[in-house]
Amino acid sequence: MFDQQRMRMALYSLLRPLVFTLDAERAHKLSIAGLKALPAGAPPVFDPALAMEVAGLRFHSPVGLAAGYDKDAEVFGPMLGMGFGFVEVGTLTPRPQAGNPKPRMFRLVEDAAVINRLGFNNRGQEAALARLKGPRRGIVGVNIGANKDSADRIRDYAEGVRRMAPVADYLTVNISSPNTPGLRNLQAGGELAELLAAVREARGAGGPPVFLKVAPDLDEGDPIRIVRAVSDHGIDGIIVSNTTITRPPLGSRHRDETGGLSGKPLASLAMHQLQAFHAVTGGEVPLISAGGITDGGDAWRRICAGASLVQLYSAMVYRGPGIARAIADDLLRRLRQTRFATLAEAVGSSA
Ligand SMILES: Cc1cc2nc3c(=O)[nH]c(=O)nc-3n(C[C@H](O)[C@H](O)[C@H](O)COP(=O)(O)O)c2cc1C
Repeated sequence: MFDQQRMRMALYSLLRPLVFTLDAERAHKLSIAGLKALPAGAPPVFDPALAMEVAGLRFHSPVGLAAGYDKDAEVFGPMLGMGFGFVEVGTLTPRPQAGNPKPRMFRLVEDAAVINRLGFNNRGQEAALARLKGPRRGIVGVNIGANKDSADRIRDYAEGVRRMAPVADYLTVNISSPNTPGLRNLQAGGELAELLAAVREARGAGGPPVFLKVAPDLDEGDPIRIVRAVSDHGIDGIIVSNTTITRPPLGSRHRDETGGLSGKPLASLAMHQLQAFHAVTGGEVPLISAGGITDGGDAWRRICAGASLVQLYSAMVYRGPGIARAIADDLLRRLRQTRFATLAEAVGSSA
């Protein structure tokens, strides 16, 4: 298995110059078509020491694929086969929508980053439902959002929960995309409580766990307020974080594009917010860390800072899908150098 993974990564580094001659969104589309055409391999067997129990779910590897790659739930099977411990599909909105005008996705190669302003382009929840029915070989989360032209965004989330709960291992309420104007206002006090109450009611008893995905661009008092709302409304975890609208120093020619920045330059902000949320939750609410995770060292530090799971997207653009398995292997190697018997014991150990 190790050799197969090394081969995949070598193959991707050979293909990369060719892939990078294409516009980023076109390359993404082609990769989805390629994955759909190939038979999905069986997921690898991970060392049991890597397993994490979160919100009643057992994750065989803590390294997941973040939302936005498999927006329409087309390739979660192949991605599980490539070695992701879980895959989050979406963001899916109640009705299909085209998203923003193209070009709207940019590789910042010199910065190992991506800027996107896709704007929830997706074929809608109904279309994804059929693909999500039936057996699958791993955990698949469904990330839901609101339509841009919706008159009642809270109702969109409630509708998404009701519709997608039967086919989701977990649901993510995404209120942190910077590319739908006004969406992030739902993170504010009164609106957040109203939203989470509606989500709880829509899920009902016996529905899947629900995670809330937040932006990294928060004020100092925000984590405490968000955690309080999450606890008050029975939300099962927080994904920290989505892309940032801030611009740390960047070197690539696309640096001034509008949109959400992800990848390496997001890492320190994502880590800072993870630490802020962990300080507030004290380990009581599971945290999932995303933002600039590029290798096993990054993943290890996030886990030690309080993350039970990690997710990535941008690093896969630069290193290919073999990165998930490579990070899991590296986590195991790091774990073996500590006094901990399982990765779960390392969660929050450096906090
Ligand atoms: C091209 C692109 C599209 C994305 N689309 C979504 C999305 O639809 N929903 C969502 O919650 N996050 C979306 N994200 C954010 C990622 O899920 C993730 O939170 C963020 O990119 C930080 O992780 P990374 O630095 O590993 O990419 C997208 C990111 C990228 C790069």
